[in-house]
Amino acid sequence: MADFLWWRDGVIYQIYPRSFYDTNGNGIGDLPGITAKLDYLADLGVDALWLSPFYPSPDKDFGYDISDHKGVDAKHGSLADFDSLVEASHKRGMRIVLDLVLNHTSAQHPWFRESSANRTNPKHDWYLWADTIPNNWESVFGGKAWTWHAGRGQYYYHMFVKEQPDVNWRNPAVRAAQLDVVRFWLKRGVDGFRLDVFNVYFKDEQLRSNPFALHGIRAFDRQEHLYDYDQPEMDDLLIELRQLLDQYPDSYAVGETFMPTPENAFRYMGEDKLHAAFEFDFLHSKYDPAQLLKAIIDWEKLAEKTGLFPNYVLSNHDVPRTATRHAKGEDDARPKVMMALLLTMRGTPFLYNGEEIGQRDISLKRSELLDPLGKKYYPFHKGRDGCRAPMQWDSSENAGFTSGTPWLKLHPDYKTRNVEAQQKDENSLFNLTRKLIALRKEYVTLRRGDFIHLENTPKKVLAYFRKDKNETILVVLNFSNKIQSMDLPAPKWAILFSEMRTGKVGAHLKLFPNEVLVLKK
Ligand code: NOJ
Repeated sequence: MADFLWWRDGVIYQIYPRSFYDTNGNGIGDLPGITAKLDYLADLGVDALWLSPFYPSPDKDFGYDISDHKGVDAKHGSLADFDSLVEASHKRGMRIVLDLVLNHTSAQHPWFRESSANRTNPKHDWYLWADTIPNNWESVFGGKAWTWHAGRGQYYYHMFVKEQPDVNWRNPAVRAAQLDVVRFWLKRGVDGFRLDVFNVYFKDEQLRSNPFALHGIRAFDRQEHLYDYDQPEMDDLLIELRQLLDQYPDSYAVGETFMPTPENAFRYMGEDKLHAAFEFDFLHSKYDPAQLLKAIIDWEKLAEKTGLFPNYVLSNHDVPRTATRHAKGEDDARPKVMMALLLTMRGTPFLYNGEEIGQRDISLKRSELLDPLGKKYYPFHKGRDGCRAPMQWDSSENAGFTSGTPWLKLHPDYKTRNVEAQQKDENSLFNLTRKLIALRKEYVTLRRGDFIHLENTPKKVLAYFRKDKNETILVVLNFSNKIQSMDLPAPKWAILFSEMRTGKVGAHLKLFPNEVLVLKK
């Protein structure tokens, strides 16, 4: 396909390896498990796989506390398994994007062990150390961000759990070592990176206290975060990182913007910085066309100003799943509308594993919670375990995910909601996803054509053109569970996608409840 840039025009599929597919019966998903499912993913039509962390980790934050950035945790496989996965993915035309967690390490990382041993070791300033607590900074996961280390006799800083100390990015040796991690994976054939909370790398040099703010449940939220993220030093570092990436043709980085707004996400994107950065207004929106449209228009405006390309995330391993947020019971009507919206946007779609079959979050009792966030803030925040439950492959025991005991329980609906069942059902969410991905591949207009919102539609309908010089595609989404009538701006439309109609559509349309229609003039 001419002019097809995989990271801009493709669909990026996030895999949470722990819950994807277990081949050795230890109850935890592994890299050979991903390799075993590559044909499934290629058939779904996705272009790149973003792998959440599989590196050695004591799992205080389920893989995001890393003790060796250049390895594979034995519970997930080996480096040889990783190489096979990369090769097999590339053979099928799918790229590999790694989740790089460079803001912090595990407290078990050799760097931290050395740094914390005493105040004179060669890595003594690889983390942020202080004799007394220097400011009011709070940890996102609860409690003060400074923890006493008896061995060293000083406090160290951690934005997340205390077993995740933040590295000192101002130290040139740390900077070099981190960029070396990037180089290590690029040389191993990786195509790109998702940078975990990248805009937290630098903190205020003077470690000033944040002003108080009057909102939020967590102490963290009751501050205006002027000094513990989004510092100016980030820009230069991204330029250096981009120069490194550019030595490997076609490579890519998307940043997970911490506390994102469209403005700060765009600030970090550009020809000489990140290819993309996340912003989550779309994800956090209600099932409401007006709110979704606002999130889209905000991106569009900035995209127009900067010439940069938006991206859309519908869900990930940190938030309740789409169906849990929007669906009623086991009905997939609403998740289908949301999926159709994601896949017909002018912006790179990010799809989280299990969304293509409308998995729902599991519900857990307090005693069953594993996620540190849930353990700390239950019942105000039930944590993130719900959306991390194992992938539902078929109706056999444990949904075909493992022959052992799954690390996290399965959703009880797996007997009926699973990949195998949905593959057979022409009108399943899986088949809608697959068909719309294929349509996006077929029509460059759907990938990159202008987004033009159609005004004067019924309130619960979102309709938009995707348009370029030669082609007009019209997407019509009915967000209500009632029939909606509307007029279309041309007398005859061919149907590119519908579950409910065949033939042509005329100028007057009666939309079925929660109907998805993709039309072409
Ligand atoms: C963002 C990741 O998405 C989340 O899962 C993790 O807990 C934090 N960063 C800390 O690494």
